[in-house]
Amino acid sequence: MKQYLSHPVFSIISDISNKMNTPSFVIGGFVRDILLKRPSKDIDIVVLGSGIELAEKTAAHLDRNIKVHVFRNFGTAMFSYNDIEFEFVGARKESYRNNSRKPIVEDGTIADDQNRRDFTINALAISLNKKDYGQLIDPFNGILDIENKIIRTPLEPENTFSDDPLRMLRAIRFATQLSFDIETNTFDAINKNTKRLSIISKERIVDELNKIILSQKPSIGFNLLDKSEILDMVFPQLNALKGIEVIGKNTHKDNFYHTLEVLDNIALKSDNLWLRWAALLHDIAKPATKKFEKDIGWTFHGHEFVGSKMIPAIFRQLSLPLNEKMKYVAKLVQLHLRPIALSEESVTDSAIRRLLFEAREDIDDLMLLCEADISSKNAKKVNRYINNFRIVRKKLVEIEEKDRLRNWQPPISGEDIMKTFNINPSHEVGLIKTAIREAILDGIINNNYSEAYEYMLEKGKKLGLIPK
Ligand code: CTP
Repeated sequence: MKQYLSHPVFSIISDISNKMNTPSFVIGGFVRDILLKRPSKDIDIVVLGSGIELAEKTAAHLDRNIKVHVFRNFGTAMFSYNDIEFEFVGARKESYRNNSRKPIVEDGTIADDQNRRDFTINALAISLNKKDYGQLIDPFNGILDIENKIIRTPLEPENTFSDDPLRMLRAIRFATQLSFDIETNTFDAINKNTKRLSIISKERIVDELNKIILSQKPSIGFNLLDKSEILDMVFPQLNALKGIEVIGKNTHKDNFYHTLEVLDNIALKSDNLWLRWAALLHDIAKPATKKFEKDIGWTFHGHEFVGSKMIPAIFRQLSLPLNEKMKYVAKLVQLHLRPIALSEESVTDSAIRRLLFEAREDIDDLMLLCEADISSKNAKKVNRYINNFRIVRKKLVEIEEKDRLRNWQPPISGEDIMKTFNINPSHEVGLIKTAIREAILDGIINNNYSEAYEYMLEKGKKLGLIPK
């Protein structure tokens, strides 16, 4: 494995740990990722001795200015060098007394340290010691599991998951990122222990959800979350999308699987996490708005509005940021039907202007979402939609070039109106501002100062105002 230790820091660590007489090893994600040929920016070093001392000595040797972050409580130290994060930790062993859940943590061997890791593929280590530099230490056949694409715990899964229940979610996340299967015994243990996730912080849970969402094919993860019943626990609103109801000959699509299709579609087009969240949440209010109407069948009227109103509570519940990102997701959910509605009628300039005005700088993302929302299996229908979206996109470009509504600022401000008519802030100011905006959107006037000024005078006159 020497070929994988080409980074010059490895031989420096090796020299220093040799002098300190504390054997050291590269371990965990870095080893897994080099074997999988995935890029990796974190290197974990485990030391049979003081990780903190080895980190400090290594950093000092590399460059006196490197800042080493020391976490004495955990016996770890880390520093960043040439964009790579190095983390050092002393090998540990945990044992449990019968009468307490709190483990006794003591110094351990490399084998002890590997035993307490989450998965066989994450327990691989490479020696940095003089006598066997570059040798792979793989007590649980992690290499074979990498070859066979298997996620499996090194010890009895119940014990591994009991040490840190988040690992159940990590198993699903790795299975999604790597397109691996979770070994049956390991998956059974996840099934049995889902309730234990309740002791894990929302922040750690949503970190894993985000990694699933950012994977190449996120549906793998959501199907596993569903199968293990974790979905209902951490994200009941998504779980509620499942199922099909039939009355007479009237049926509707399963909105859970439709949503996953849309999420996979968008993942092919964009790495924007929040656009992917918008895809996941675009139909979230379908269960809440579902109705059976005698002459029409199943309807979900207003699900885009109700859905966008549900976003803040969902973001709070999952501990997602309550900021611009949340507003962006709510906006896309609210607007997600508009381009489809447009493409089905003859597309008027005014309708395009209104869409541009509301979507603003997110119009391109909205179009991507709408195109991803096509999940029909009817090729004719799909072609019609795609073709119509092409027309909408073309029109969007034309209108935007002409009217510049994407970053629209009113050409006449409230200040201008008050000065012109010598009035104080009042209802009339708002009425005139809205009238100007509507006139621009309806194409009655062009989006420029002089036409808006004339329109303001006209409107003011109708309201009995006289310019000073
Ligand atoms: N680890 C563990 N149990 C956890 C988290 C981490 O056993 N709950 C171990 C694994 O050996 C893992 C290593 O710590 O490989 C580093 O953890 P981390 O940096 O969180 O994950 P990576 O495996 O490096 O993967 P990623 O960066 O994608 O999260």
